[in-house]
Amino acid sequence: MSKIRIYALAKELGLDNNEMLELLDSMGVSYKSASSTLEEDMVETIKALVSEDRQTQNTGTQAVAAAKAAAQPAAEEAPGSDVPHRAPVVTIMGHVDHGKTSLLDYIRKTRVAAKEAGGITQHVGAFEAQTSKGKIVFIDTPGHEAFTSIRARGARVADIAIIVVAADDSIMPQTREAVAHAQAAKVPLIVAVNKIDLPSANPDKVKNDLMQLGLVPEEYGGQTITVELSAKTGQGVEELLDYISLVAEIEDLRADPKGEFKGVIIESKVDKQAGVLATILVQEGTLNVGDFVVVGETYGKIKAMTDSNGGRVKNAGPSTPVQVLGFSEAPVSGEIVSGAKNEHEARDIVARRKEEREAAAEATTRRKLSLEEVMGS
Ligand code: GTP
Ligand code: MG
Repeated sequence: MSKIRIYALAKELGLDNNEMLELLDSMGVSYKSASSTLEEDMVETIKALVSEDRQTQNTGTQAVAAAKAAAQPAAEEAPGSDVPHRAPVVTIMGHVDHGKTSLLDYIRKTRVAAKEAGGITQHVGAFEAQTSKGKIVFIDTPGHEAFTSIRARGARVADIAIIVVAADDSIMPQTREAVAHAQAAKVPLIVAVNKIDLPSANPDKVKNDLMQLGLVPEEYGGQTITVELSAKTGQGVEELLDYISLVAEIEDLRADPKGEFKGVIIESKVDKQAGVLATILVQEGTLNVGDFVVVGETYGKIKAMTDSNGGRVKNAGPSTPVQVLGFSEAPVSGEIVSGAKNEHEARDIVARRKEEREAAAEATTRRKLSLEEVMGS
């Protein structure tokens, strides 16, 4: 028996990570994150404690819950804990050519990068992947500097950001920018040190350089999770998926499929044959074929939906990206999508938004005019 990471011990004992962290808190043990390691004797103490609890008819969960209830008033119970968990939405960000699309390809086991024009991602693609750790929604973002605003949007819909850094190139301008976006959006990040299969790879340099950005890797005593991997050979990818599910579990992501629908436009385009195609990421509630939806000053009726594998679907719950047909004009990426009961309500919402915008614009013009009058005379 040697040192063991907290999350690994939690798994071994059949506890979830939050329960394990609460148990450590109640024992007064200090740690940096669920991936911190515990000393051998501490591991033995925890195991003994959990088994003692179980022998007295308590499961680990109940023991922690009981300890928590004793320590805190009942009102402290997490709100909406009946709301089901949802899959994490993970944004892949980083400098151009550092291997974002290749990493997703490996996970998805398809070859998207090879099909792209010049191998450069020019839009945000969203897809759901069934991994060994359950469903994860991935959003690919372009590393090319022309796409700053798209990257900013990618960060805002994400629960977790993966910052891909090529081990032969280290921190570059768009790496810094990606980190800044994730931090501004308060999204937890994981650094994927990619291309470690290359002879010129220098993962230690990447980790040192990260510290200039205020990101101190865990192995240097900090809090930043770094995973060395190769999108080419697949080495380390499983470990990255492990960390994603670990962080997701800590974030305790939930959404009610029966709640009011809310989503976000990931991308939209006009197809010569099909017309306007928009990718919506469902965040709350469920989107159904036949529903009326409003985005900014546009509305539409969902005529058809396809999931990220191209299969037709009739409805889509939380954390599902779908491509929809039904808008007459292309909605703007990053805009919020909400539902309307019927066409009448959808029209009303759009009309109200237009009026509000026009009134605001008129007020600005009036202010400008009166300022000119004052200055000019
Ligand atoms: P943009 O979308 O343009 O920002 O690039 P990207 O970050 O998506 O990079 P992409 O996946 O297109 O990969 C860029 C190049 O690096 C391609 O030639 C890949 O084959 C190569 N590459 C990506 N990952 C690895 C890796 O782990 N090892 C090696 N040897 N090459 C890699
Ligand atoms: Mg790419």
